Order: sequence, then structure tokens, then C-alpha cells
Amino acid sequence: MDYGPAPESTKEAQAWLDQHERRFGLFIDNAWSDAADTFASTNPADGKELAQVSQASAADVDRAVEAARRAQPGWVALGGHGRARVMYALARLLQKHARLFAVIETLDNGKTIRETRDADLPLAARHFYHHAGWAQLQSEEFADYRAVGVVGQIVPWNFPLLMLAWKIAPALAAGNTVVFKPAEFTSLSALLFAEICQQAGVPAGVVNIVTGDGRVGEAIVNHAGIDKVAFTGSTEVGRIIRKATAGSGKKLSLELGGKSPFIVFEDADLDAAVEGLVDSIWFNQGQVCCAGSRLLVQESIEERFLAKLRARMDNLRLGSPIEKSVDIGALVDPVQRQRIEGLVEAARAEGCTIYQPVCELPATGSWFPPTLITGASTSAGIAQTEIFGPVLVAMSFRTPVEAVQLANNTVYGLAACVWSESISLALDVAPQIKAGVVWINTANQFDAACGFGGYRESGFGREGGKEGMFEYMTALSEDARPAVPLVEAKGKAKPAEAPGPFAIDRTAKMYIGGKQARPDGAYTRAITGANGAFIGDVGEGGRKDIRNAVEAAHKASGWAKATSHNRAQVLYYIAENLAIRADEFAARLAAMTGAKNPEKEVQASIERLFYYAAWADKYDGLAHQPPMHGITVALNEPVGVIGIICPNESPLLGFISLVAPALALGNRVIAVPSEAYPLVATDLYQVLDTSDLPGGALNIITGSADELAKTLASHSDVDAVWRHDGSAEGCAEVERLSAESLKRTWVGGGKGRDWYDTKQAGGRAVLAHASQVKNVWIPYGV
Ligand code: NAI
Repeated sequence: MDYGPAPESTKEAQAWLDQHERRFGLFIDNAWSDAADTFASTNPADGKELAQVSQASAADVDRAVEAARRAQPGWVALGGHGRARVMYALARLLQKHARLFAVIETLDNGKTIRETRDADLPLAARHFYHHAGWAQLQSEEFADYRAVGVVGQIVPWNFPLLMLAWKIAPALAAGNTVVFKPAEFTSLSALLFAEICQQAGVPAGVVNIVTGDGRVGEAIVNHAGIDKVAFTGSTEVGRIIRKATAGSGKKLSLELGGKSPFIVFEDADLDAAVEGLVDSIWFNQGQVCCAGSRLLVQESIEERFLAKLRARMDNLRLGSPIEKSVDIGALVDPVQRQRIEGLVEAARAEGCTIYQPVCELPATGSWFPPTLITGASTSAGIAQTEIFGPVLVAMSFRTPVEAVQLANNTVYGLAACVWSESISLALDVAPQIKAGVVWINTANQFDAACGFGGYRESGFGREGGKEGMFEYMTALSEDARPAVPLVEAKGKAKPAEAPGPFAIDRTAKMYIGGKQARPDGAYTRAITGANGAFIGDVGEGGRKDIRNAVEAAHKASGWAKATSHNRAQVLYYIAENLAIRADEFAARLAAMTGAKNPEKEVQASIERLFYYAAWADKYDGLAHQPPMHGITVALNEPVGVIGIICPNESPLLGFISLVAPALALGNRVIAVPSEAYPLVATDLYQVLDTSDLPGGALNIITGSADELAKTLASHSDVDAVWRHDGSAEGCAEVERLSAESLKRTWVGGGKGRDWYDTKQAGGRAVLAHASQVKNVWIPYGV
């Protein structure tokens, strides 16, 4: 028996296009304006033009940013409840017009109506409902935060309306106004959304939609009136945006590519896993950033599983996406088909086996059959490159350890699937996978309450959940930070009255892997005290010292696995040992900086150690209850190896205030202490040696902040770099250099931080920099 035709009607969608005479302007300040240039938006299933869409100019982007700027104070003044009402209206209208949206999306993108109707639209509406709730609760839940301001948002073509919802809903909830750019292939649902905004009573200028290609994206990214950029798209463009915004002070979140593993253990429910795989790699023609594109199957069941998979592939229906029973629709554009074809042919040339079911491809439009590739080596291009199409590469493993190794053998870290009937095995594997989302016995689940986003080169920042709201807010304490350093520059300070116990010349070494080490370059730098007299030498750290420290930090991976109770104990112990030597440290501070009341800084440092020891076992994740039978556990995981350039102000307290939260959450640290006053950090070696801190968890390299920061920011095995020494140019350089491996950065720019003020130097905002959220989805039931 074959399927009869069951096409969804396109009548209303065609009427909507006709009503606009198949030509769309830009939506700025609640009005439509024509751009001089237009381009065609076509239906990928038949190649026919649907409408002409405007290519915005730089002047149009200016107008949109100005409108958003003008509208922002009023949008905030509307209050949480006022914004919640508008967002609720948007959610309702999305539901009311769901079918029209779904058909427009299918026509413009080529994705099946089954998916636009059952996934894209319900999830987009849910996003507005959920975030209407955050607007309502903002004053309670985010009392210490404000909206960032005007946000520039750029999205790709794979989930045009859903990505719009992911971007616009949290931004509006927090009180921002937006300049939004859809992808050039798929602008239509965003333009329909603009009409919905008018109906919902969104005030003029709050949502502006400018269409066009990458040049429009560039104009948004580089616009001085934009306070934050939120981007979803290719890793390549993500890198360009990271470089372009470096040093601008703009907030940035990047949701980039992936090559996500789909792990099947021998005890998995194989039939369920096959269905999961269908949802994982053939959902949306595989044009999904978190697609499970690398199948890792346990060797003992490999043949059986692949046979089931091939049989299932034979039953997938490819065809007109507007047909309700079709599984696989058209690719967004012929250019994507050519790209995918090129990658698959390269794999064939390398000797891989390609399996494709026999299916008749329609004569017009851009199509690619579901494809399974076996026989690829783990380092082959096909196993490492994001294909962004319906192509699965299968490999096998023998043990769970090997599965984890293979899963993490990628520059990306967006998502992973783990299939096993043993919850113990699945929950053991999930935390070991470097990815922002792990689905256990399920795949491609999304919900507004659960954060989504990547590790490594899959980008940073989260969308959805409470963590996603923080991406659109600024801590009020940031506004209080002065533009100038808090202490006078070295040399101007008054001399200390007593030389203290450090009059004897000695050279402080580096601290690497829990041992003191001479600087590789064998050079030292002289440190003078507040009175101008020489008080000691420190090593001049260089590239090799950083490399050694990174190696030691990686070897100390046990620190990340230590219990939070254990990490807290170590921080308390450091505090205790510092307290025993408080007088010595105070004297050192006085000799170096001329501080009048150095005891205060030592006591504040001890308290800060207590503060982060207290947080170590209290910075818990969340258990979300999305609309499914199960839970999603949002875990705060350490970022990994963090390079920290410490401030000159309050050299001991500044050092402790940055290093302690990183250690508390299980990161390993390479700290560059204050360039001007490093001796107070090198004096800590003995304190650390006697405090049970495992070797390599904290490494200390003295020397030039600029040089060491550059080395840390360029090092591919450093996961994050923080720089807080007040050097605006130095911070910009860290952001620029971090683009290569897309490491996380936290920089203070040219602003000082009052390290005594817990609001500025502590709290969840700091802990958020020291962690990344992994959402583990655990459905249950029999
Ligand atoms: P892309 O990254 O070039 O485009 C995404 C968005 O960024 C579009 O709106 C585009 O107009 C805009 N854009 C392009 N250049 C820009 C620039 N310099 N500054 C600011 N905005 C800019 O992705 P594209 O070309 O559509 O797809 C190419 C490949 O990227 C795909 O084959 C796939 O591998 C990957 N990709 C990954 C996505 C993901 O969600 N991870 C989404 C789309 C593409």
C-alpha cells in the first residue's frame, strides 16, 4: 500500500504573499519602508520565486538602531507586567496564525510541513509564553540586573521563526529593544512576525526587522549604537564577529556549529535508538546545528544496529515538503546541495562506503537523499567537518572510555545523545562529554525552560532557561565601576614607613604543577617597593612557561572531579594558612604598595576565600520540568583551564577574588599576578603547599601581563581567559586572539573594580564566568 497525496493547502500563504504584491520592505519603527535593492526569496522545493525581499543599506541599519534606541527607555518603563502582556499577546497571535506561519516557513525553507506545524511553531509560541513569565518576574528574580540596551540579532536559515523566537523573546523580556536580521534565504516568516508585532501592540521601535545578506549583518555587528550582539550561524562567521566586537565592550553570545556524537551502547533499546537517530540526523534534512551526525555504536551490536538503520532509511519518504506524510524535504538552496555532495564525494574517493536508499529525487528543487557513511577514519574530513545535511557518519567503539574519547574528538561541543538502558552508565557518561546539551535515550528535544548552547568552538552563551536571560542583562554593579584605576599608579604612592621582613634579596620562581620552577628564559625582573628601593626579583615568564603550566593544569584534571565539599575544604585551608601568616602578608603589601592599612586587604582576602569556599557546594544547577515525561538537569560544570590576568589594584585581594571562584567550581588556573606587585602572589607558594591543593590546580606565572595574556589567549588548550588589570587595549587583544579557538573571555576593559565590594567582585555573575551549563535531558517511563 502506498501513501496517497495529502498536501497542506497553500492558499492562505499565497494570498498573504499576493496581498503584499510579493515585495517586502523593511520593518523599522513600526512602519514599512522600501529599500532601493531587493533580492528573490525562492521555494527550494521547486526553485520558483516567492517574493522580492529588501536588501537593507547601512543607512537603513542606522535608522533601525536609532529607532530601537529611542524606544528602549519606554519599553523598560512599561514595567515587567506591561512587557509580559505584550509578549503574551505575541504568543497568542503566533498560535492563532500557526498554520499560516507553518506553511510560509515550509514554502520558504523547504522543511516539511510536519515539522513546521508540529515543532517550529509550537516551540516558538512556547518561547514567548515562557519569556512573558520572565518579564513578569523580572523585578523579583533579576533585581540586581538591568536590560543591556539595544541588541543586534542575526540568525541562520535552518529554523527561521524558531531562531527568531529564541532571540527576540528573552531580549524583550529583559527590557531590550532589537534590530533583528533573518537569513537571506528565509526572511518571510520574520516579516510575517513583524505584522504580528503590530497587532500585539509592540510599541514602535521595540522590534525592528532588517533583511539582507551578510553585509547587513556586518553593519549591525559594527554599529556603535548596538550594546549586544546575539548570533547563530557558522563558526566561521562567529569568529569574524568575535574579532569585530573585540574591545568594543559589546556583550556577545554565539551559537555556532557542531558535529554531535550519537552514542549507542550494547544494552540500548535498539529500535528506539534507530528512531532517535532519525530525529537526530534526518530532522530538518540534517540542517541542524546539534544534529547527531556522528554515530558511535558499540562494536558488539554494530552490524545488527546498522542493518536496522538501513532498513529504516529505506522507509524514509523524501518529497514535496508541503505533503503531510513526507519525512525529508528540500535543502534550503542548491548551494548547500553542492556543498554536501562535495563532502560525500570526497569521502567516497577516500574509500568510505556510502549507503543511500533508492529514492526518486524530484526533477526540480534542491534535494539530497538520506546517507550513511561507514569506513571513515576518526580524523577523516567527513568525520570532523560539519556537513549540515542528511549525512550520517558511523564509527564503532569497544568500551565506554573509548566512546567518551571519540565523542570528544571534535573541536565542537554543542550536543550529544547517549543511548543505554543503564541509567548508571548514561549518567556516568553524560558529564564526561564536552557538550552543552546531552540527551539520554532521546534526541533533539528543545524547550524554552531549558538552556541550549555550546562548549568549545560551538560558541558561548545560552539560549532559553534562566541562564539565557542573563545573556540579555547587565549586573547593576557593572555600572558602578569607575573608569580609572582605584589606586594611584606605582611610584606615586607614599613610601612605607618600615621596610618589613623582606629586605633580603631573593628571587621568586614560578609555581607550576605544585612545584617552584625557574623561568624557562632564565630572565628575571626587578620589583621595587613603594619607596623606590629594590625589594626582590621575580621570574620573567614566557611562552614556554605558559606551555608548561597549561600541561600541568591539564594533568590536574582530578580537581574538576573532586567533590565540591573537598574543593571548599581546600579553600578554607588556604584561608586558614593565610591567616596564620597575615602579618607577613600585610608587611609585604605595605612594602610593595605603600598601603596604609594593609591588614585590611589581608583580612578581606581571607574572607573572600571563605566566601567562595561557601559557594563551592551551593552553586547548584537546576532541575527543569519541560513539557515531557522526565526531567532536564541543568548542571554547572567547570569551564576547564582558565588563564587569569590579575589586577594591580589590591594585588592580594584582586588575585584571590579571581582565582578562588575559578578553583571553587573545579577549574584549573594559570594566574598571572599583578605585574607591578607580584611578590604577594609568589609569597603564596608556601601557603598553597601546605593547604592540600593538588599540584597543577593553580599555577602562577609572573612577568609581563601583555605578553603572558597574549600567549594564554592564543593557546588552543586554554578554555577561557580573564583579564582585569585595567588595560583596555590588552583586554581588546585578548578578545581578538580568543576568536581563533573561540575561548570564553571575561575582561574588565579599562575599568577598575572595587575588589572590596562583594557586589562587584563576587556573586553569581562571577560564578557564571567560572562555569558553563550543561542540560542533561532524562526522559523516563516504561
Ligand atoms: P552564515 O554563518 O554565513 O550565516 C548566518 C547568518 O549570518 C545569516 O543571517 C548571514 O546573512 C549572516 N552573516 C553572514 N556573514 C556575516 C558577517 N560577516 N557578519 C554578520 N553576519 C553575517 O551561514 P550560511 O552561509 O548560511 O551557512 C554556511 C554553513 O554554516 C552551513 O553549511 C553550516 O555548516 C553552517 N551553519 C551553521 C548553523 C548553525 O546553526 N550552527 C546555521 C547556519 C549555517
